[in-house]
Amino acid sequence: MCGIIGYAGSGNAVPIIVEGLKKLEYRGYDSAGIAIRGAAGFEVVKQKGRLAALEGRIKDSPLKGSLGIGHTRWATHGEPSDVNSHPHLGSGSRIAVVHNGIIENYKQLKERLERRGIVFASQTDSEVIAQLAEYYYDGNLLDTVIKTANALEGSYALGIMCLEEPDTLVAVKKDNPLIVGVSDTGNFIASDIPAILEHTNKVYYLNDKEIAVITEKDVRFFNMDKEPFGKELETITWSVDSAEKGGFAHFMLKEIMEQPKVVKETINSANIELPDISQFNKLVITACGSAYNAGVVSKYVFERLCRLPSIEVELASEFRYKDAVVDDKTLVILISQSGETADTIAAMREAKNKGAVTLSIVNVVGSTIAKEADHTIYTAAGPEIAVATTKAFSTQLIVLYMLAIKFAARLNRLSPEGEAELLAEIATLPGKIAEILESVDFIQKYASECVGYKSIFFIGRNIDYAIALEGSLKLKEISYIHSEAYAGGELKHGTISLVEENTLVVTISCCKRLHSKILSNAEQVISRGAKVLLVANTNEVESTDKLSQIRLPEIHELFSPSLSVVVLQLFSYYVAANKGLDIDKPRNLAKSVTVE
Ligand code: G6P
Repeated sequence: MCGIIGYAGSGNAVPIIVEGLKKLEYRGYDSAGIAIRGAAGFEVVKQKGRLAALEGRIKDSPLKGSLGIGHTRWATHGEPSDVNSHPHLGSGSRIAVVHNGIIENYKQLKERLERRGIVFASQTDSEVIAQLAEYYYDGNLLDTVIKTANALEGSYALGIMCLEEPDTLVAVKKDNPLIVGVSDTGNFIASDIPAILEHTNKVYYLNDKEIAVITEKDVRFFNMDKEPFGKELETITWSVDSAEKGGFAHFMLKEIMEQPKVVKETINSANIELPDISQFNKLVITACGSAYNAGVVSKYVFERLCRLPSIEVELASEFRYKDAVVDDKTLVILISQSGETADTIAAMREAKNKGAVTLSIVNVVGSTIAKEADHTIYTAAGPEIAVATTKAFSTQLIVLYMLAIKFAARLNRLSPEGEAELLAEIATLPGKIAEILESVDFIQKYASECVGYKSIFFIGRNIDYAIALEGSLKLKEISYIHSEAYAGGELKHGTISLVEENTLVVTISCCKRLHSKILSNAEQVISRGAKVLLVANTNEVESTDKLSQIRLPEIHELFSPSLSVVVLQLFSYYVAANKGLDIDKPRNLAKSVTVE
């Protein structure tokens, strides 16, 4: 939710910041802005709309300087507009700020400042930071940032410049990500690595309430008591290419196609020290969005393999407020691509406060959840840029399968042979996913005929139902077609009343033992006028003008979601592509939801 970048160096900051913002646009894209320390003071260009609109404005204005900050916004407080865009300035134009996060006490701070005669220009919570810093400024930007940050409640990643200190950029964060990059030609701050990867792969990860003071020549770190300290410089191993589209029409398609590779890498790398599962009597899995759907899939796997007395899956936004029954005999698994989702972070902290042991499955190295959880397993998906997740989801499934197998073995529910057999089955997944990706023509053609549907339902039973949830979410996220997922057996309890001529029911059937049950559900909707797309690992069924089918490779039932989801991702992608939509940046969404 919002991306920020800053640069202090020897080059022109403008193209560096604009190119960086392009890599951060996935975090928010309703407006963007840039502030440069020019010869006469701050030069600011802010523009509602996509970054391209800002670029157009910059072309028309002679913006140049070697210190600057930029922002791409996902609106929370105040509608998307030029004036609400960042950077925000104090009313004396002496402080410039970019902010990612939410300032919860902004109203009180704003009222205090207004009582002192300060006039606000925007409706945002963020402007209060610039106004407050300007109000506090007493000749030392570091002191001012400490004082300002101490007054803020909520979450923030901040880049701050001050008129009187023309070579310095100060950054601080709390509950939102911020990295500091270093290079021979200048130093950077950014919300995420791809923004600066073209210039450097050497980064520091800022922790909460750590302050970085950045100039062209050096980076220094201070705590909130102004005590200096050293940090470990980390080297990023991603290539620049991994954050580029590489000839694909969209990042989403590129990321779908990368799945055989990243699934394989995750299988090979998910080798970690695990908590001893035998000390727990309850397992809770919690996450948001697609990561939650990965959790729902895994519940079936954990239940079948581990037979623990209590296994729950909870939306993190619900878990955090429900006074959950967890204690030191509970293992709480958190799943998050970004490691920064506000609700998942809150769920983790709630679980820890109650004494539970936490294990996170995270893609972004060094993110808040990865750092704070008691145990962390990284997925090896690499940078995921498209807002709708695909490859990160697939790698989450792999880690969850492997965890379930390891836990089952530890609980003596699986023999060494049984464990080896299941792991060998997982090892076949990259090849089978590649097989699906080699024959996308049918899906592409079928999807091109689906753009006119008003409603598309997804049904399945057991683990097929779990993956139906993800198929439905993917479709609505990027195609804007109304969609819901139902357990096949639930159809007759209400949903079937929505089935009519212009309805498509995507039916998933990879559980052989339930095949006849779900097929009779398919018959029931066909006889009420619907069309069915059957995604199944059987060829027992004949295609008709009402029923089309996509055959999946054979795999153990528990791992079949890894195959069916690829078809569902491609289906959603091609429906949205045929509608000509902005697939990588769907309306109203953001990749990393760092606010509640
Ligand atoms: C957003 C994204 C989803 C993602 C969810 C959870 O809604 O659009 O693709 O599944 O956040 O994000 P996380 O980073 O915690 O996996």
